Amino acid sequence: MSSPELRGSNLRPAVVRLMEELPVLPICISTLTRPDVDIDDHIDDILALAKVEPCLTIRIFQLAAKHFPSRAVTSVQQALMLVGSRAIDELIEVQSMARPFHPDNDEERCMWAHFVHVSIAAGMLAKVYGQLGVKPEAAEEAGLLHDLGRLVHYKHLAKSPSEIEMQGYRDPAELLQAEEAVFGISHVALGSVAAEIAHAPAYIRDCIDHHHSKAANIPRKTSAANGSLIELVAIADEIAMYCHRRPADDEDEFAKRSRRFMETRSVYVKKCRPKLEDVYEVLLSSLKQTQTEYLRLGMGPPPQLEYMDIQRR
Ligand SMILES: [Fe+2]
Ligand SMILES: [Fe+2]
Repeated sequence: MSSPELRGSNLRPAVVRLMEELPVLPICISTLTRPDVDIDDHIDDILALAKVEPCLTIRIFQLAAKHFPSRAVTSVQQALMLVGSRAIDELIEVQSMARPFHPDNDEERCMWAHFVHVSIAAGMLAKVYGQLGVKPEAAEEAGLLHDLGRLVHYKHLAKSPSEIEMQGYRDPAELLQAEEAVFGISHVALGSVAAEIAHAPAYIRDCIDHHHSKAANIPRKTSAANGSLIELVAIADEIAMYCHRRPADDEDEFAKRSRRFMETRSVYVKKCRPKLEDVYEVLLSSLKQTQTEYLRLGMGPPPQLEYMDIQRR
């Protein structure tokens, strides 16, 4: 099924409309409307939720841009502090008009788990490869929003992301092909427009634009992000997707794939002499943390991720 209105001069106005209809999780409504709570605690709770909920994060950026259009915001925390309690009131207004979204199948839950996983893995990679000078917080925020276009897709077709998930893609290139076949446009192209409309920080927009670029084509320096940040998010994305879509039958096979993956994928990280142990560590630790953080979304237990079966020798 294609999406003719998501083309040409119709694209931007269509995405503006779709951005107003991003899914609203029940946990967002209950967190925002908590009665009798101290304002500082309330903002802390919202920030903790925004760390794992991309739709809430992008709305906070939109609000900051609306009230402080000339300020270049660099993090969701800064954006929320800037707007303060006014943000809470406006977020409640927006969210209360939406029908709460309840993911009711594994594909939908997997999509949210993916956002959380990439955010966590990107932050961990930034710490493991500290020589690259990428701030873990920036990597986490860019990781959380890297697939913003998939959320726009979600609302556009009622059956998304299930329809996309059922295509059985195994890597980013196949995912983009599946989306173009189903929607007529990829999530990278949609995410790029959506992030610009939302006034997301420039380094996040760069990561959205390039997270599926071939390693050699990732720009060294963009307006805001350096190639290292973009590549860390791209690697985190591939670690999450690669393991999810292609669970190895045994550890030797997994080790072989991981080595090949790191050899072929990395440009900037290569200079840090990546070790297989590093990939294992990020994979296993990020999985564990994803399981914990996912619970904050209030969607119940995290989806069964096949690669949880991989055990270290
Ligand atoms: Fe993506
Ligand atoms: Fe992704």
